[in-house]
Amino acid sequence: MLKFPEGFLWGTATSTTQIEGHIQNEWTDLVARDGRTCHLACDSYHRYKEDIEWMKRLHVSSYRVGIEWSRLQSRPYGALNAKELARYRDQLDGLNAAGIVPMVVLHHFSNPNWLNEKGGWVNPAAVPAFVDYVTSLVGALRDNVRIWNTFNEPDTYACCGYLISQFPPLKHCRFRAYRRAIRHMAEAHHRSCQVIREKGSPLGPVEVGFSKNWTWFQAHSAFWPWDRLAAELSHRLFNSIVIRQFLGENGLRGSTFLGLNYYGRVRFKHLRPLVPTFGFSADELAKLGVSCDDMLERHPDGLEETVRYLHRRYKLPIYLTEHGSSSLNEDFRERDLKENLAALHRAILEGADVRGFYYWSLLDNFEWQFGYSKKFGLVAVDFDSQSLPRTMKHLGTVYSGICRENGFRRMPETNGLTLGSRVQAARF
Ligand code: FCB
Repeated sequence: MLKFPEGFLWGTATSTTQIEGHIQNEWTDLVARDGRTCHLACDSYHRYKEDIEWMKRLHVSSYRVGIEWSRLQSRPYGALNAKELARYRDQLDGLNAAGIVPMVVLHHFSNPNWLNEKGGWVNPAAVPAFVDYVTSLVGALRDNVRIWNTFNEPDTYACCGYLISQFPPLKHCRFRAYRRAIRHMAEAHHRSCQVIREKGSPLGPVEVGFSKNWTWFQAHSAFWPWDRLAAELSHRLFNSIVIRQFLGENGLRGSTFLGLNYYGRVRFKHLRPLVPTFGFSADELAKLGVSCDDMLERHPDGLEETVRYLHRRYKLPIYLTEHGSSSLNEDFRERDLKENLAALHRAILEGADVRGFYYWSLLDNFEWQFGYSKKFGLVAVDFDSQSLPRTMKHLGTVYSGICRENGFRRMPETNGLTLGSRVQAARF
């Protein structure tokens, strides 16, 4: 039995654009690869109470939930929209009453349109506008929220928007814009940390951090120097530079925790990333010994190494704010979850201070440029039916057992289904 520390938070995560529906931001007009939009998504805007009931059935003790900036401020420095604020407050009250601790995410890949029209995060004016919003919001919700998460995956956001044209504003190779967006978000994070710490919360000691997506980059074969170089450059551009901007060279610049989103590995072969999201089929990848869900290569050992490294380097408490897999094969997903949790458990035994784990995601949802084709939910949503019925999946039942028991029984080793391979040499 792998037991987790007492008081460990078991949670699940979502984001506003992916589940709420009825949203006006840069995603509203985007038609995803499956020909669909985020207009209705899971309709959680209206069904948040039902979502809480599902979380109770899952026995989670925390929920990483977004608040959508575009709903609350219709112009820069404007007053917060009272009706929307009341709806979010009702949602937070429902969570607290159910004993589910909210971790509120302030920015998850979307801005109000008035900010996008002025260049979004490439424009330094985004920083004071965001800090003004945070000051009003935190003042209004400090009775309901103790744990704040300022930015979700700034690197994914800036890379997909300005380097590889996957997210609005769909730009290619704008390295300067990428660096500027990261710098401005980091500055907004530092200033928001200060505001949040000053406001405090009657619920207890306030916690604030951001979520860093950490991809494990490697060459598929160490023989090819250009693949080694591609891995090294990606690691610097997307991991090291970003975390340094947010946490500072030595000091921690206001964060009380570090959120880590970890999915797995990207390996390069002749400069092409060997992952399904870059057009390789699962069969082709399997022949190369690459075990993937519908998006990325699975690599639980990378999670252990990453957590150990980040703990050594920054000495901050860590929340694993996202891990999950998308597949129609629920046995694969169960193994993926348990192998990654076992890796996290090893890191904890070796001394890393990990305080919680959030499964991505509560519901099947709108997976950005891919639309509804990726199935990350613990709970399924039938998007072909107008009433969007929800049903518990096998993995949801497995996860509720883990949450209840604060641990799980290790799975027997199998040949073939075991995900990833042990990497002996540490990456750092
Ligand atoms: C993360 C995002 C989240 C979702 C998962 C699959 O990078 O934060 O919104 O897209 O990947």
